[in-house]
Amino acid sequence: MAQDFNGKVVVITGGASGMGAATAGLFAESGARVFIIDRNADLAQTMASALSVEAIVGDVSQSAFCESAIARAAAGGRIDALVNAAGIIIRANGLDTSDEDWQRTLNVNVSGVFYMCRAAIRQMKTQAPNADGARGAIVNFGSIWGELSGKGALAYAASKGAVHQITRTFAIEHARDGIRVNAVCPGEVDTPMLRTAGRTVPLTDAQAAEMGERVVPMGRLAQPVEIARMVRFLCSPEASYITGAMHYVDAGYSAV
Ligand SMILES: NC(=O)c1ccc[n+]([C@@H]2O[C@H](COP(=O)([O-])OP(=O)(O)OC[C@H]3O[C@@H](n4cnc5c(N)ncnc54)[C@H](O)[C@@H]3O)[C@@H](O)[C@H]2O)c1
Repeated sequence: MAQDFNGKVVVITGGASGMGAATAGLFAESGARVFIIDRNADLAQTMASALSVEAIVGDVSQSAFCESAIARAAAGGRIDALVNAAGIIIRANGLDTSDEDWQRTLNVNVSGVFYMCRAAIRQMKTQAPNADGARGAIVNFGSIWGELSGKGALAYAASKGAVHQITRTFAIEHARDGIRVNAVCPGEVDTPMLRTAGRTVPLTDAQAAEMGERVVPMGRLAQPVEIARMVRFLCSPEASYITGAMHYVDAGYSAV
């Protein structure tokens, strides 16, 4: 069965909330041993209990932490998939972006993805290939804002453009190692990031629905699981010929 992850080890950063948590839920349902990595200790423990997965608490912008988290998850001998969903957004135009916000965004969204990919690929290269030649798969969370431009989140857009290039470059560097690296690029997804991050007052249900109606061609926001399904597919044997690609799951947003 293509979505059977029995016996597989999957590591998901940002797994305590939003799309990371939805992805952890799908992999757990598919039989994987799942590690969620998150800096929010309380949320990570609560989500780990709810999904029957394991939590590793820490900050992906720290290289040493990423190395130790991968080593812990790989203690059984292998990591089959890594999903990098941890991310932050600062909602500010370029001129209103402080040095601190700029650096913080790049530290988490860019360095965090790079450190986790590097540590995981080093591990995956040591693993014996499966029958189909696969050693591992990685999915990074990019964004429509990694390609499109729009006012109001310059550091975030820059960081997601970098994630797309990290994805493409690692993909071609390791295409012959049996390691596939892809990005999923969501549009507007109804998560705590969209509702609360960088806002003084969280969006209400009515405001979130209005936003979906106004900006998304299909007329609604995505639910996190609608993105998680693409992530699980990209990590599965069904995606055996797919690497180095940006996968838009945006209800037509980037087609306009
Ligand atoms: N929500 C959207 O509309 C949207 C659209 C496109 C892309 N994305 C991207 O998708 C990913 C998931 O977003 P979400 O909306 O589910 O967000 P979310 O805020 O619901 O979840 C993000 C999780 O990442 C964790 N995190 C943040 N910084 C961390 C760090 N330094 N170390 C470890 N954990 C950290 C948070 O604690 C949180 O649990 C992000 O990379 C985001 O940029 C979101």
